Amino acid sequence: METLSLTINGKKIVTEKGKKVLWAARENGIFIPHLCAIEENPSPFGSCRLCFVEIEGKKEPVTSCTEEVTDGMIVNTRTESVLRLVRMAFELIMSRHPIICKECPANKKCALQDISREMGFKLKPKRLPQILPALPVDDSHSLFTYNPNLCVLCGLCVYICNEIVKEAILDFNFRGFITKVGTFQNRPLARAKCNFCLKCVEACPVGALSKK
Ligand code: FES
Repeated sequence: METLSLTINGKKIVTEKGKKVLWAARENGIFIPHLCAIEENPSPFGSCRLCFVEIEGKKEPVTSCTEEVTDGMIVNTRTESVLRLVRMAFELIMSRHPIICKECPANKKCALQDISREMGFKLKPKRLPQILPALPVDDSHSLFTYNPNLCVLCGLCVYICNEIVKEAILDFNFRGFITKVGTFQNRPLARAKCNFCLKCVEACPVGALSKK
C-alpha cells in the first residue's frame, strides 16, 4: 500500500494514496460533516454540500468527499468560508426536516444531531422558514418503515440498493421540491421485490428508514 502525508487542521497524518480527504480526516478523528458519501462509492455524488474544506493553493473551498489526498496537502476544515458554506447547507437541509427528535427512531444516533453538536449549529434553521413535507409513511414492509418526511435525500439507500446489493428497488422519484426516495411507480415497499437485506436501513443517516 502506497502512503503519503498531509496536514489537516495542523495535524500531520499519514494515509493511503487515492483516499478522499473526508475519509483520511475521519480515520484520524477529525470531524467533517457529511451525509451523502460512503467510502465504498468511488464516485461520490457531492450533493449534500456539507463536507467543504479549504486546501492551501486552491481558490475556493472544495468538497472533501470528492477531493483525493496528495502528498504535502494542507487542509483546513474550519475556516470562515467553510463554516459559512456548511452552515448554509445545513440550514437548507433543516428547512425541510421536522425537528421531532424525541419521537424519531434515530434519536441519539442521527447524523443531523451529530453535525449540530460537533459544529455548534442549531437544529432549527435561523435564516430560513421551515417548509415541511407531509407525505404518507410507508409501513407496508414487514421489517422496516419508511418515513419520507424524515428523508434528507442523501441517496445512500439508493446507492446501496442499486450499486452494492444490486436490487434496484429504491430510486429518486419526481424532481425538484417534490423529489423523494421511493420504489418503481411509487409502489408500497411490500410490493417491491425487496430481498430483506436491510442494508438501506443500516445506511440511513437519519430516521427515514427504521427497523420495526
Ligand atoms: S458528503 Fe461531500 S457533498 Fe455530501
